[in-house]
Amino acid sequence: MTSPRPPTVAIVLAAGLGTRMRSRRPKVLHPLCGRPMLAYVVDAARAATGTRPLVVTSPSTAAVRDAFGDEVAWALQDEPRGTGDAVAAALAGLAAPVTEIVVLSGDTPLLSAETVAALVELRRRDGAAVCLATVRPEEAGGYGRIVRDAKGVARIVEEKDATKAERGIGEVNAGLYAFDAAWLRGRIGALRPSPASGEVYLTDLVALARSDGRKVSALEVEDEMELTGINDRVQLATAEADLRWRILEAHLLAGVTMQDPTTVFIDAAVELGQDVVIEPNVILRGRTRIGAETLIGAGSQVSDSVVGERCTIRASVLESCEVEDEVTIGPFAHLRAGASIGRGVELGNYAEVKKSRLGPGTKQHHFSYIGDAEVGAGVNIGAGTITANYDGTRKHRTVIGDGAFIGSDTMLVAPVTVGEGAATGAGSVVTHDVPPGKVAVGVPARVRERQRKPAGEPEV
Ligand code: UD1
Ligand code: CA
Repeated sequence: MTSPRPPTVAIVLAAGLGTRMRSRRPKVLHPLCGRPMLAYVVDAARAATGTRPLVVTSPSTAAVRDAFGDEVAWALQDEPRGTGDAVAAALAGLAAPVTEIVVLSGDTPLLSAETVAALVELRRRDGAAVCLATVRPEEAGGYGRIVRDAKGVARIVEEKDATKAERGIGEVNAGLYAFDAAWLRGRIGALRPSPASGEVYLTDLVALARSDGRKVSALEVEDEMELTGINDRVQLATAEADLRWRILEAHLLAGVTMQDPTTVFIDAAVELGQDVVIEPNVILRGRTRIGAETLIGAGSQVSDSVVGERCTIRASVLESCEVEDEVTIGPFAHLRAGASIGRGVELGNYAEVKKSRLGPGTKQHHFSYIGDAEVGAGVNIGAGTITANYDGTRKHRTVIGDGAFIGSDTMLVAPVTVGEGAATGAGSVVTHDVPPGKVAVGVPARVRERQRKPAGEPEV
């Protein structure tokens, strides 16, 4: 058996200060549609090379490591002295034999894996020392310019160092490269700081390859957005708008209705079932999943939540909660972390639920708060009901059994249990457990026999 070819490894540069962002947060951690921009670059690098990317950070971008953990390998550039120095630091930490190295910038999140793969292909075909991606953006300002001669790309000149004539060049360096690993290892040490800026430029390797008599190839990429580098928050907003539209388009084509997609914001990781309907001014964030045929009404915000099929959510806020099928919510309901809502539950105006389970078919129609509670099936929670779960020091649980009827404006002073089929009177303050089938009334509530209406379900 022949041994497998030593792999291609991607180096992702993320040690720069990102000063143009004017932020305390490292540039590559700024999110686009809910994910840090570096996550997109890492995904594209991994998909194109099939190996774990090596990400270069510096002490000032150490927070990047905490955000990503060991899904990538790490190299340290002790000070951001330029992109050439960053690659040198990465190579110093790369012990494994590799034949090919791809270098990407952590600030180009719209880059596709297909483009990276095409670059790698072209370098192999040409046997080039370096293959780089170039683009002709509408506005070339800020990018390194591509200087060509009769043999192709001769060198790259950074804007800070460019002459007026060079600044007029429309073809720019996209900051994406594939290198012959042996050549790169041999020559990276020859880079010297630029006299103009004091930075060590990776881009100087192009002229070096040419002076070594090695081939430099260039992949001209059509889509300028794909290689746009994000250096400031104007570029961040522009890139996010582009990505946001691509996400909306994918959902629309997959069978989701949106009356006005221009007002809808959906994070990259959100999953939507068929025939979901999204009204205007909706925000869906994080790892949210919405089941088929659910309606997300105008003004709703859902984050990190799982919602079942055929639900209706009107002008409500859902956070880190789970909702089963055929639930109606809102308007103006607030489901907070740990809310678990059973099938067919009805949550009405100003219903708030936190860290509680509501069993199937339970109704909580009008302004009320249920927190730290276990509520059974078919329970009616009257208007204004509150679980007083906090005694000033600790949180306590409330348990409400199946079929219980909680009268309007009941205070359930936890810890307390209302038994199966029990009831509370309007305005009662329940400080002791109510046994199954009994009714508790008054302030504080006293227990007596429950008289049920012959018709069964009480009116709501
Ligand atoms: C770079 C290129 C430029 C190209 C542009 C494309 C150089 C010298 N210039 O310029 O030709 O047109 O990208 O977007 O490479 N970084 C480090 N360590 C450092 C400095 C930077 O890791 O010491 C990282 C940054 O975090 C960033 C990436 O390298 O992710 C690019 O750095 P940046 O300062 O944005 O380079 P540009 O000026 O945009
Ligand atoms: Ca940049």
